[in-house]
Amino acid sequence: MRVFIVYAHPSEDSFTRQVRDRFIAGLESAGHSYTLSDLYQMNFRSDMDEAEYRREAYYRLDAPVPEDVVREQEKINSSDAIVFIYPVFWSDVPAKLKGWFDRVWTYGFAYGLQKDGRRAMKQLEKGLVICSAGNTLDYFRRTGILESMEKVMLGDRLFDRVKTKELVILEATSRELPGREANWDQHLDRVFSLAVNL
Ligand SMILES: Cc1cc2nc3c(=O)[nH]c(=O)nc-3n(C[C@H](O)[C@H](O)[C@H](O)COP(=O)(O)O)c2cc1C
Repeated sequence: MRVFIVYAHPSEDSFTRQVRDRFIAGLESAGHSYTLSDLYQMNFRSDMDEAEYRREAYYRLDAPVPEDVVREQEKINSSDAIVFIYPVFWSDVPAKLKGWFDRVWTYGFAYGLQKDGRRAMKQLEKGLVICSAGNTLDYFRRTGILESMEKVMLGDRLFDRVKTKELVILEATSRELPGREANWDQHLDRVFSLAVNL
């Protein structure tokens, strides 16, 4: 399987960075190949500029797509699976990753049709979302935030762009919780097997 990892965390000194590295170790051990977009390290521009806005808001296929966006779209179309790894920030993805969706999911690529009646983005075999969160799964269920994350990430952003999809929350990894250390190895083992069994 050719796997495209979209990773967003501002610090190398983080649990999420360990998740990313263990996931890659799992891919390598199973013989999967991968491409990585480390959005903070790339300094990926997450703000849409006015020309991009006009392209998306006016459904203009003839307006150019920026080079950095085209590169991301090429990574998608040369992969079989897409994997997002990030920390939950305010019940959603970090702004940098939100901006990645704003800019990379362009008209004619991720939604809408091109002149030949097709969508340029290929349908991927698998979409996997792995996020680390300070709160517990129980909290996310009780508050309805889990449902909201599933609807937005799986139902809207991934939608039918992937054949099968899954959201995995690695819970209670906040620095202020003793659970962070207690859950550490178990979470990373899980991530390794998610990669192996992709
Ligand atoms: C700005 C910010 C917002 C956060 N918002 C949430 C949140 O809404 N829900 C949650 O469970 N954790 C939240 N967290 C905790 C992160 O998900 C936390 O970073 C996570 O436990 C992973 O740890 P790491 O940063 O060492 O990778 C937030 C952290 C930051 C820095």
